[in-house]
Amino acid sequence: MNKEINEIIKDKYSASLNAEILISNRPDLCDYQYNGTFELAKLIKKNPYDIGEEIVLSLEKNENCQKKFSKIECVKPGFINFTLSDEYINELLNKMNETNKFNIDLPTKETIVIDYGGANVAKPLHVGHLRPAIVGESIKRLLKYMGQDVIGDVHLGDYGLQIGQVIYGLLEDKIKPEEITLELLSNLYPKISGICKENDEIKEKCATITKDLQDGNTIYQEYFKNILAISKTDIKKIYDYLDVSFDLWLGESDAYKYISNVTKELEEQNLLKTSEGARIIDVSEKTDKIEIPPCIYQKSNGAYLYSTTDLATIWQRWLDYKPNKILYIADSRQHLHFTQVFRVSKKLNTLKNIDCEFLGLGTINGNDGKPFKTRSGNTPKLENLFEETKNIFLNNGEYNKDYKEEDLNKIINSIIKFADLQNNREKEYIFDIEKFSKTTGKTGPYILYTYLRTKKIVKNNESFIDKLSKTIYNVHDRNLRLKILELNEILNYAFKTRMPSVVANYLYEICVLVNAFYENNHINNLEDIKKKSDWVTLLDLTTKIIYDLLDILVMEIPSTM
Ligand code: ARG
Repeated sequence: MNKEINEIIKDKYSASLNAEILISNRPDLCDYQYNGTFELAKLIKKNPYDIGEEIVLSLEKNENCQKKFSKIECVKPGFINFTLSDEYINELLNKMNETNKFNIDLPTKETIVIDYGGANVAKPLHVGHLRPAIVGESIKRLLKYMGQDVIGDVHLGDYGLQIGQVIYGLLEDKIKPEEITLELLSNLYPKISGICKENDEIKEKCATITKDLQDGNTIYQEYFKNILAISKTDIKKIYDYLDVSFDLWLGESDAYKYISNVTKELEEQNLLKTSEGARIIDVSEKTDKIEIPPCIYQKSNGAYLYSTTDLATIWQRWLDYKPNKILYIADSRQHLHFTQVFRVSKKLNTLKNIDCEFLGLGTINGNDGKPFKTRSGNTPKLENLFEETKNIFLNNGEYNKDYKEEDLNKIINSIIKFADLQNNREKEYIFDIEKFSKTTGKTGPYILYTYLRTKKIVKNNESFIDKLSKTIYNVHDRNLRLKILELNEILNYAFKTRMPSVVANYLYEICVLVNAFYENNHINNLEDIKKKSDWVTLLDLTTKIIYDLLDILVMEIPSTM
């Protein structure tokens, strides 16, 4: 319709506007609304209501509009309100139903590497790693759904100070590389990192071990290999539980061999400066509102830093995949780090065509509004958080204990994920397990329950699935149909903004409308065959959409609820 309006405006007023027809925020009055009249009024110095009336008159003569809208009217002070015709709504729904991926518009295909998860080797995964895993997995699935070529990489933190600390502890306790166990590692890391906080000499020793390891010391490498293998298995277990999976299990250590390429190009382009013995790169820009300090590339003792491995990783990804984009999903507090890294990368002739995006995440808080802690007051390991959620859910309803383990885990996952994904990823949120494990309200269990209930009606009446007729029967019916028509816009907006919350909130709205539909329209005993067929078909389309959206939100469906 925007096309028709724009043509009228061009013909009549020789103007062109950016205004578009929008979904109405007064669904009681109309389905869509246009307010370009106000922009035009200023431009040509005419009353917006008069302009609106003129546009309506022209639209009413247009055959296309006659078919699509049952009503077009201009209301004071100059909005144009559109009401879709039932026939056209059903035509669009039938098209969605017949076409792959519901006939949504797919953006141009690009190769996109997505860097998420970001667990650190030899340290237990804690609640801070939950969001990068869930949000990252969801963005990856959304991008894939939108037809992109996506490569997910966990980018393990595996070459930092913690490795030196753990190796130091193992050597002190005279443990051979082949004797390392997960239990040993989980006890060692907190112990040594605690000691390092108080003892500078030992801290220095651990830093030297880390540096020697990075330089190729064979004994340390032997330890490192085993630490990595054991730790990876453990990390994988947690990601598996969350149904989060990566195409690549690379880490900082894998990028090391590309540091020399980056250094060479930095030198050739004359970008490195020396400051107090360290090598740095100036990344400030004239338009900066706050000062962006230089990126430290190499410390005075020769050690490389987080920024260095991130630059080398971009080089590696360029060699392996020639990506158009790389997306990074990590805590918002890493914003400055990524700003510096991306600016250096944009300066390098080899890497400058890759667009890097940082998608920052807010913290997960407890009911007190402070970073989430367990009941015993610790920053919980992820495993304990899953356990705590399970216990609360089991105590919530007397039949919850009857679930099969597999179904129970899917429900626990839905609680955690829907709690997270319904929030704008940039904002912090309060993780209230009690609230999020209920089957009513804006929760994972509510969504799953709605899906299963609707699916069951469809299944029981499968033989009635057909094409939709031209009729819409009542307001609950119409509301649901209109909501479904929003799918294309929602998915494209979520894709553009990289916001799973847009999908989550839309899914919730669909579920609310499906439930209202179900409660007001009884299908099972209907005698009117046409109506029955229309409603079963509508619910069938709805369940198929919910199914796909659940997958984008990394939620698996239990066999029963
Ligand atoms: N390991 C890091 C952390 O725990 C996150 C890694 C994010 N990705 C990256 N390429 N730097 O904070």
